[in-house]
Amino acid sequence: MRGRVVDVGCGNGKFVQRLREDRPDLALLGLDIAPGILAGVPGPVAVADATRLPLATGSTGAALALHMLYHVPDIAGAVRELSRVVARDGLLIVSTNSGRDKAELDDLWQRAAGDVLGTGRGPARISLSARFTLEKAAPLLGEEFGRVETIGLPGTVTVRDPEPVIAHMASYRAWADQHDVPFDATIERARTILADHIAQHGAFEVTCRGGILVCRR
Ligand SMILES: C[S@@+](CC[C@H](N)C(=O)[O-])C[C@H]1O[C@@H](n2cnc3c(N)ncnc32)[C@H](O)[C@@H]1O
Repeated sequence: MRGRVVDVGCGNGKFVQRLREDRPDLALLGLDIAPGILAGVPGPVAVADATRLPLATGSTGAALALHMLYHVPDIAGAVRELSRVVARDGLLIVSTNSGRDKAELDDLWQRAAGDVLGTGRGPARISLSARFTLEKAAPLLGEEFGRVETIGLPGTVTVRDPEPVIAHMASYRAWADQHDVPFDATIERARTILADHIAQHGAFEVTCRGGILVCRR
């Protein structure tokens, strides 16, 4: 169906909501593997795994997979499944981060971890998007889609208060055991380093290197 758009891994539905407002002519469907997160998303929504979509072959005009493919264990399988449900003249839009995204946060983490361990520079922070970066995505998507256009969306976040940065770092708590350093102590040390940096320079800048990939056959 040309006017159907499916947002796979729609999360809290911010893009479903936005599309609903901007394009009331489209039939939107939000899908996510986590039932809880769908609670506040305006329907229709359904629980579904990106590697097993409850949609007929060629049944959707456009599919979105925004900042979600790096969470899927079988990324190539999910790309094949997205390709299956998108109509021949349809569109897949994917977003992810560059491998160099928010490098300042990686640097801050390694400095803090090094201070906690007393080793100079500590082990790297885990990167959720490393499995499917902007750089790796194009060839992978190219296996299913003949034309893949990568559009970089760079930006800079300037903070004058450590707390939003610390809250972002602390949101990785679910993966705390994958960091070879005490998680809470590293967060506390990062807060101090950041507060000192802001006191000295007036602000802390984070370079965001995200982007989207527009895929057609
Ligand atoms: C980082 S959030 C992105 C949410 C939204 N697309 C956005 O850009 O704001 C990743 C989402 O993908 C979902 N997800 C992870 N693995 C999935 C899978 N195999 N199938 C469907 N959704 C999945 C998660 O539950 C989460 O809501």
